[in-house]
Amino acid sequence: MLETVDPRINIIDKRLAGVKRIIAVSGGKGGIGKSLTAAVLALTLSGLGHRVGLLDLDLSAPSTHVILGIEGLYPEEEKGLVPPEVHGIEFMSIVYFSGDNPTPLRGIDISNAMLELLAVTRWGSLDFLIVDTPPGIGDATLDVIRWLKRAEFLVITTSSKVALETVKKVIKMLTELNVPVIGVIENMRRWDSKPVREELKGVPVLGEIGFDDKIEDSIGDVNRLLKTDFAVKIKEIALNISLDEKALLR
Ligand SMILES: Nc1ncnc2c1ncn2[C@@H]1O[C@H](COP(=O)(O)OP(=O)(O)OP(=O)(O)O)[C@@H](O)[C@H]1O
Ligand SMILES: [Mg+2]
Repeated sequence: MLETVDPRINIIDKRLAGVKRIIAVSGGKGGIGKSLTAAVLALTLSGLGHRVGLLDLDLSAPSTHVILGIEGLYPEEEKGLVPPEVHGIEFMSIVYFSGDNPTPLRGIDISNAMLELLAVTRWGSLDFLIVDTPPGIGDATLDVIRWLKRAEFLVITTSSKVALETVKKVIKMLTELNVPVIGVIENMRRWDSKPVREELKGVPVLGEIGFDDKIEDSIGDVNRLLKTDFAVKIKEIALNISLDEKALLR
């Protein structure tokens, strides 16, 4: 039988040719701070003088535009879609097209929407493309591994045994697939619990971030966001990531 290849797959590498590093922010569970980390990491790396893109691949619940206070924008069409630059970052999200409408997608539809977004987006030359992903080892994460072949994973967990249990599986899967893991961030750290670094032997824990009660009031306001304790911690991690390209777990 003749095997057909979706022509959009072949164009993805070309679209990403000018991007030096792709960092997928991932984690086993929902609501653990992946999107907040992705958005603040992108802002911080940009503030450190890097050229940065942010791609929101949480197609059914995009959030990074809310965190960064982005509204009323649309990408320019020119032999593809050029992501608008916001707060110094090239930003792409399904929200440009879906607006306030829900995007109930399943299985093949998620893959299709992701493929379309990856195939049409014309990224400029970037030092970092930060990718926000939905929770778990579902379609989206598997597609990121399949289509963003150079992606390195930054894994988020909380101190909870429940989150940790799943994160261990995510790391196991990534390692088995030879996908580079930059390290883990323990977010919303409960200082009375055993540190995650003691549980995750052999995987670098890049930072521990406590619950920051200034976050909620800073959502949508990047200047306030960058002044939070959360952002200070992310800056330390961003410096580490940008300086230490070789410290990857393979
Ligand atoms: N360290 C923190 N201190 C206080 N609030 C936080 C912290 N980290 C994340 N949050 C808040 O927790 C909520 C969930 O964060 P976020 O949306 O980034 O999680 P997520 O892992 O992307 O969730 P989902 O899996 O649903 O995409 C948000 O309201 C965010 O602002
Ligand atoms: Mg999210």
